[in-house]
Formats: sequence, C-alpha cells, structure tokens
Amino acid sequence: MKRIAVLTSGGDAPGMNACVRAVVRYGIAAGADVYGIKRGYAGLMANDISELDSRAVSGSIRQGGTILMSARSLEFKTPEGQQKALGVLRGWGIEGLVVIGGDGSLTGALALHKLGFPVVGVPASIDNDIRGTDMSIGVDTALNTILDAMDKIKDTASAHQRAFIIEVMGRQHGYLALMAGIAGGAEMVVVPGTCIDKALVIQEVRSAFLRGKPHFIILAAEGASTPERSITQLLTEYIHEAGHEARSTVLGHVQRGGSPTCFDRLLGTRFGAAAVDSLMSGKTGAMVGLQKNNMVTVDLESVLGGHPDLSEEALRLAEPLAH
Ligand code: ADP
Ligand code: F6P
Repeated sequence: MKRIAVLTSGGDAPGMNACVRAVVRYGIAAGADVYGIKRGYAGLMANDISELDSRAVSGSIRQGGTILMSARSLEFKTPEGQQKALGVLRGWGIEGLVVIGGDGSLTGALALHKLGFPVVGVPASIDNDIRGTDMSIGVDTALNTILDAMDKIKDTASAHQRAFIIEVMGRQHGYLALMAGIAGGAEMVVVPGTCIDKALVIQEVRSAFLRGKPHFIILAAEGASTPERSITQLLTEYIHEAGHEARSTVLGHVQRGGSPTCFDRLLGTRFGAAAVDSLMSGKTGAMVGLQKNNMVTVDLESVLGGHPDLSEEALRLAEPLAH
C-alpha cells in the first residue's frame, strides 16, 4: 500500500492528534505517502485533502482537538454520499484509509469497507462506549478534567455544606460518571439504565449530612436524563425535597478539550502505528483496540451496534466507598 489517508470524525477527543501524528510518521517510515483529510467525511466528500509530511504534524502531540478538524455529516450516511467519498479517494489514488472517531464514525468506516474500500478504524471518544477496546482515545484526559472540576466543587460545596450535582457527558454510557465518581470520591453515582429511586436519594442526602459529611456530590451521567427532564433537574428536585440546598454544574464540552494526558498520547500513538500495520498487512474492515494493555485488531462489524457493559467491579466499589 503506497498511498494511505487519515481522517478524524465525530466528537473530537484529546489524543486524536497523537494518533494522526503516528499514522503520518509511522506510515512514511513504512514507505507510504500519507494524506490528511480535513473535517471528517464532510471534507472527504468535498475533496479537502492534502499530503502530510513529518513537519505537518510537528508539535501536535500536546494539542487537544484535532489538527485535521472534525465534523458530523448527514450526507455521508446516504449511499450517494458514500459513492462520492469513494470517488474522491480513488481519484487521489488512495489505497487505504484510517478513520479515527467514535462509534458513528466507525459505522461510516464499515460502510466504506462494505463498498470494497480498505479501512481501519481507531476508537476515539471520551465516552468509552466502543466495544473491543478497554479504552478509547480521550477518555483518560476527560476523566482528569472531571476530577479537577470535582476537587474544586468539593471545596465550595464543603464551605456551604451543600449538595451538588455534577453532570458529565457520555451519551447513553455511564463510564465517565462511574469512574470519575470513584476516583473523585462522589457520594453518589447515577448512570443510564438504573432506576433513580426518589426515596433513596432523599434518604442518602439526609443521612450523609447527619453522618457528618460536609457535602454531598452526585456524579450524574447525561444519559440518565428522561425525555421530559434532565438528570440534573430531576436530582435537584429530590435534594430540595430532602431539605437541602442544591447546586449543579453541567461540565459540558470542557470535558472534550485540553492537552492530552500521557496515557492518551501513548494510546493515540500506539493506535496510529497499529492502524498502519493493520492496513499494510491487509487486515482491513478492522478496528485496532487495547485489550489487557496489548494492541489487538478486531473485526469492525463485531464491535458496532452496542456498547460495552460497565465493569461489575467498579459498580460494586462505588457504593461502599461513598460512605
Ligand atoms: P462519533 O463518531 O463521535 O460517534 P457521530 O455519531 O456523530 O459521532 O458520527 C460521526 C459521523 O459518522 C456522522 O456525522 C456520519 O457522517 C458518520 N456516520 C454515523 N453513522 C453512520 C452510519 N450509520 N452510516 C454511515 N455513516 C455514519
Ligand atoms: O460522543 C462524544 C460526546 O462528547 C458525548 O459525550 C456528547 O453527548 C456529545 O459528543 C456532544 O456532541 P456535540 O459535539 O454534538 O455537542
């Protein structure tokens, strides 16, 4: 394979740049010309492509966001959009593509593979909701951002003996809420798919303050919201019913930004090199993943259409450690 291309798509994640950089430099070392596609599938269909040399990725390993930029594209979901993308790739003589993104982007990669184009996917999403890998790019940095915010909120919450709701991202997955809740010492963690028992919340809030806790921090996943009300609105109401003051912080996109942690730089780098190896050895229609700290290649189709389960061990730990 002499000409390969790389794109970043969907929600950006810190460490995407480390991955792009590795695809470029490792790809060049393997004898390929490497092309960068701007703005994900939207840029691909718009022919927004240029060759990248080693200098084009200089300094990027420490930057958040993505130097290739990202996008979401409805047009690419259509057969016409995908044919357009294929035409552009073939026009450039590109023989293989690395797609760095979340489960939506990887579903797009699978669509190209099914049309006969060699593709390798790299899991990148702060949500950590992709099967076939223990960690996706960006998760560790996002967790550290949440912890930083939690530590600060605890200071002010303790000063006023308040209950706080910290709402974190994750779409329908509760990984960020659960892990940050454990690592940051939350009094309660709320993840999607669990029934939020009003009486239990009220009892827990009251009993925590009676036991001498200076604050009550709930780490709530955005995906635990109901169609009518956000999880933050719901929990605020319950805390008020418990007779306590409630404040809330929706962390939002701050979780997606910032310089990647060492873990995410190394993960992005390892994934980038593994993706090039996978393309070069003809293992396409695949996703690279991290399993038990080893690089693996898994069938793309097998990881899509569902989410991994939350760790039973972590779920068991969360409750007793909150006391
Ligand atoms: P993420 O990759 O972070 O999960 P999205 O779900 O928004 O983000 O997906 C990113 C892009 O991937 C979409 O805008 C679309 O262009 C492409 N994509 C998502 N789902 C599909 C699909 N079923 N078929 C083809 N392309 C898709
Ligand atoms: O999938 C990553 C993610 O950051 C989710 O956690 C969040 O719900 C969503 O993307 C936000 O997407 P947008 O970029 O459209 O605001």
